[in-house]
Amino acid sequence: MKVAVLADIHGNLPALNAVLTEIEDENINQILVAGDISGGPYPLEVIKRLRALNTHFIRGNFEDYLINIYSNPTNSGWYTSKQWSPTRWAYERLDNDSLKFIKSLPEEKIVTIPDTDDIYMIHRLFQKMSPIDTSGILHPYNDKDMFDSHLKSLNQSILIFAHNHVSFNQKINGYLVLNPGSVGNPLNGKIGAHYAVMEWKKDHWEAQLRSIDYNIELINKAYIRSGFLKEGGIMARAMLQSINTGRAIQFLFLTFANQLAFEKGYKNIDVIPDEILELAAKKWDWSKFMKKTLKNQ
Ligand SMILES: [Fe+2]
Repeated sequence: MKVAVLADIHGNLPALNAVLTEIEDENINQILVAGDISGGPYPLEVIKRLRALNTHFIRGNFEDYLINIYSNPTNSGWYTSKQWSPTRWAYERLDNDSLKFIKSLPEEKIVTIPDTDDIYMIHRLFQKMSPIDTSGILHPYNDKDMFDSHLKSLNQSILIFAHNHVSFNQKINGYLVLNPGSVGNPLNGKIGAHYAVMEWKKDHWEAQLRSIDYNIELINKAYIRSGFLKEGGIMARAMLQSINTGRAIQFLFLTFANQLAFEKGYKNIDVIPDEILELAAKKWDWSKFMKKTLKNQ
């Protein structure tokens, strides 16, 4: 019994296609998708491609954003701000069936495969926080005690999580803890498509992390041809640079913009004002991380 685990695809169809081609001849019985499926220049195509396969899904925070963006009338910044324009762009390209599908996805899932141990899957530990709170990350690296106590509360022997776009595969206190990394936008400095394959070995699961190259030019061209880069604006530019460097440019840029907003007197904001985002984009050194990546190669 073999299971492919994919997460954080973020609408990167060329990366997803490369992974699906790679596993084509491997007798994969089941595909698990641990959230952040849609987005990018192929928001609809990625959903359709995966739904055509034998797949278990959960939703990630990006799916929460899609649901939230048009269902929270008190938060007008989501409808109009430059910060959220890539999400609006994706939302507008989804059909009713895909939106219904996204809304139907659970936050967490226990996957049962006959004659194997059940698998617990969640996009981000602490996901039950507000959908606009992106800090819901629990990781063995950042809070080992809390992570251990979370594991103890699990009824399953394997935990799959995602969200931070960094691969992880370790046995912790007898539990297999797996983050497959990101198919569409890895953030551990390694450019490519990351995923995992799990195999049932008589009485336990074993996981293997994988990282494959794909034609990154295809996603660069798609950002331009689809209009996503132009209409998604500053944040789409940061997303593409994340893909091209394997670094968390979006997060770093938003941190920088939030700091700038604070310095300009904005307090407790959940959407960065457009004028601040534009100012941040002017001040931000867009070439800094590209240079670093080239130097590291
Ligand atoms: Fe993600």
